Amino acid sequence: MRIAVIGTGYVGLVTAACLAEVGQHVWGIDCDREKLAGIEEGIMPIHEPGLDEIVMRNLRNSRLRFTHDYAEGLADAEVIFLAVGTPPDEDGSADLTHVLEAARQAAQHVGRSCLLVTKSTVPVGTGEKVEQIVDQALAARGSPPIEIHVASNPEFLREGQAVGDFLKPDRIIVGVRHQEDVAVFRRLYAPFNRNRDRLLIMDRRSAEITKYAANAMLATRISFMNEMARLCDAVGGDIEAVRRGLGSDPRIGPHFLYAGIGYGGSCFPKDIKALRSTGASVGVPLRVIDAVHEVNEEQRAHFAEQVARALSDMHEPRVALWGLAFKPGTDDMREAPSRIVVDRLLADGVRIRAHDPAAMGVCRRIWPEGSGIDFVATPEACLPQADALVVVTEWLCFREPDWDEVERLMRGRLLFDGRNLYEPEEMRRRGWQYTGVGRGRCSA
Ligand SMILES: NC(=O)c1ccc[n+]([C@@H]2O[C@H](COP(=O)([O-])OP(=O)(O)OC[C@H]3O[C@@H](n4cnc5c(N)ncnc54)[C@H](O)[C@@H]3O)[C@@H](O)[C@H]2O)c1
Repeated sequence: MRIAVIGTGYVGLVTAACLAEVGQHVWGIDCDREKLAGIEEGIMPIHEPGLDEIVMRNLRNSRLRFTHDYAEGLADAEVIFLAVGTPPDEDGSADLTHVLEAARQAAQHVGRSCLLVTKSTVPVGTGEKVEQIVDQALAARGSPPIEIHVASNPEFLREGQAVGDFLKPDRIIVGVRHQEDVAVFRRLYAPFNRNRDRLLIMDRRSAEITKYAANAMLATRISFMNEMARLCDAVGGDIEAVRRGLGSDPRIGPHFLYAGIGYGGSCFPKDIKALRSTGASVGVPLRVIDAVHEVNEEQRAHFAEQVARALSDMHEPRVALWGLAFKPGTDDMREAPSRIVVDRLLADGVRIRAHDPAAMGVCRRIWPEGSGIDFVATPEACLPQADALVVVTEWLCFREPDWDEVERLMRGRLLFDGRNLYEPEEMRRRGWQYTGVGRGRCSA
């Protein structure tokens, strides 16, 4: 099939590359020419395991091409995906400027009747807004008559595992207004749908809500566990034991039950805000969602505050910081909890040496030279003369440090384990002052 994907960020680039990988002819369209030039030279704009190989293979065989020119990319498209960003507006609602602009461009430039599919995460009712824009643009074009159907196909890929998630999805949510469009989706996704039917067909509004509901449910589990962790710290109890006890109930299941320093990234924080805003706009209070957001804000600030307080009496304190990306496997720093920790410590004049396997390039733009944070090539290079070790992201390379070496290099013995990677008792036996998340055991 002939496909165009508008927006070649995380979602768009992965979508375009994976569709080309299974044999479709795909144009990736983006207004950022620098990004496109980089991709064509093999410089991926994002860190995503396996992506560069697929992109380069399909560039070479010409099934995947990139352009900033809508007319070129859309000339023979049968299916056009909208995969542009939907950042939060000032009031928390999703800013649809990019989606509506891309839809207008699609209608102005497409060369034939087609299916326009919203992959971006958009609030319920956006399908109708896109339809309106498309109808206006088509009316302005006049003849030859072109028909564009608008459908919803929200994306569920996880950063760090995006290629695998796209090629082997748990489910493919499809929201249509016209039943005949279902056949197009079945053809498009047939290569990913062989061993069982993963397509869940529904109306467009339900599809739009499903995406937000899924992210809200996952964020709820995280905030719930963070709240339990605060209780564990206050009354004595170990959230890790509680997690195992909870997760072994098949009605609850083990996933997304890790206490930590709060969720971040490009999706959960903005989608939670957008969902609250949707609820408010139609007079439906979403009290659970409000609480999920508040608990997360508190959790992120609380961890940063704990570190800052412990260092407050020291003369020229130094911190070794392990991990910056909002989660392992990505260089995405959007709403990363590390930003709150770093900004809080820098405001107090703390010197930081940090390492992250993927995100340091992005971080150098956030905290340029002279900000008080240095980025170093290895986890060990953070340690010399540090008073505290602060672990923010659970990359594999931080899981089993050589503690003898760590102790040899550091001058202090403060350990803030924001991801509960280490055993508190063992660390205390070694002489560390250990602070995890919800690891305060009852002495009784
Ligand atoms: N990142 C994720 O893990 C993820 C997962 C599921 C869903 N989503 C949703 O997918 C959407 C895209 O997210 P992302 O993380 O890929 O965003 P991104 O910021 O990485 O990429 C968006 C791209 O769109 C381009 N763009 C913006 N306006 C354009 C226009 N008018 N014409 C052409 N290109 C344009 C930008 O230059 C950019 O390259 C969002 O709605 C997001 O919520 C993201």
